[in-house]
Amino acid sequence: MERAVSRTVRLPAMKVGLLTGGGDCPGLNAVIRGAVRVGSSQFGHEHVGLLRGWRGLLQRDERPLTRDDVAPILTRGGTILGSSRTNPFKSEGGGEECVKAFADLGLDALIAIGGEDTLGVARRLHDELGLNVIGVPKTIDNDLSGTDYTFGFWTAVQIATDAIDRLHTTAESHDRVIVVEVMGRHAGWIALESGLAGGAHVILIPEVHASIDAVCERITKRRERGRGYAIVVVSEGVILEGGSHEGEVDEFGHTLLAKVGVGERLAEEIEEKIGGEARSVVLGHVQRGGTPTAFDRSLATRFGARAAQLVADGNFGRMVALTGDTVSDIPLSDAVSVLKTVPEDVYHRVEAVVAGP
Ligand code: F6P
Repeated sequence: MERAVSRTVRLPAMKVGLLTGGGDCPGLNAVIRGAVRVGSSQFGHEHVGLLRGWRGLLQRDERPLTRDDVAPILTRGGTILGSSRTNPFKSEGGGEECVKAFADLGLDALIAIGGEDTLGVARRLHDELGLNVIGVPKTIDNDLSGTDYTFGFWTAVQIATDAIDRLHTTAESHDRVIVVEVMGRHAGWIALESGLAGGAHVILIPEVHASIDAVCERITKRRERGRGYAIVVVSEGVILEGGSHEGEVDEFGHTLLAKVGVGERLAEEIEEKIGGEARSVVLGHVQRGGTPTAFDRSLATRFGARAAQLVADGNFGRMVALTGDTVSDIPLSDAVSVLKTVPEDVYHRVEAVVAGP
């Protein structure tokens, strides 16, 4: 139910809500700043922040967002609006309640900044209930379709790479295997890029099955060549033989993988099968914290500016996206219909380098 407004016709000044949902991510504040700066200076929009994701809309919990409010937040990690994994569609009539809250708050448009879950809600609110919603793709996991990159991804990769660099020296000193567990619930992008950049000796991702025996064989071969240590990078979403992802779930039905501990289990299995010492390190939420890299600040700011433009044009139901070096937009439905996972051939090309002597 897209409003029949041409892309070039400007709507009158609007009240625009912004919210950040799901796991936080470096660059969220840069998006907010970009959207508010462009929305207010170029289109005269008024902005409010809805606090803690969809929960803020349901609870009518808003705060003003002026140019002054967003002036100092470009480099700040996290989100000044707070976040949650609240799913309005989990309870009967939750979608309709969002529509009512939107009207109660006097909103004309809403910019939802989030990953597959937050944007899945945004899509339904637009397509099924006619709300004026724009999406901005956020996730360190980089698993949203329709955009080459989500902001926050390269910051997480840099943090993981820095950690791997440090782990090399301690692993080598002690002739140990160190298993580094990185985030990546369904997609192994962080493991792939940080493992490659950090010179890991094995990379394991959820998309491609690799047996524990194959991992042990790689390590044993290294030992035979006189290299006593190894760095194994594993995505949290990898399921090992005999393992499962059953456990506590969030409102969108996702298992809280940090509590499953694939890295720890893998280290134990390696010790048991081939001896020697193995340790595991879970990078966890460190990957989501702190200031975004220059690339992510710039991408997030451009995404925010584009979202403000889409609002001004009345071009709702869209998600901003990066294609090559161009920021454009695509239907929200294209972005959330299928996850962007690592293609097998891409993984094998990287692994061919990783597996070398
Ligand atoms: O969705 C991004 C993500 O970083 C996943 O990789 C991870 O499984 C999840 O968030 C963890 O989120 P939290 O512990 O904050 O619920």
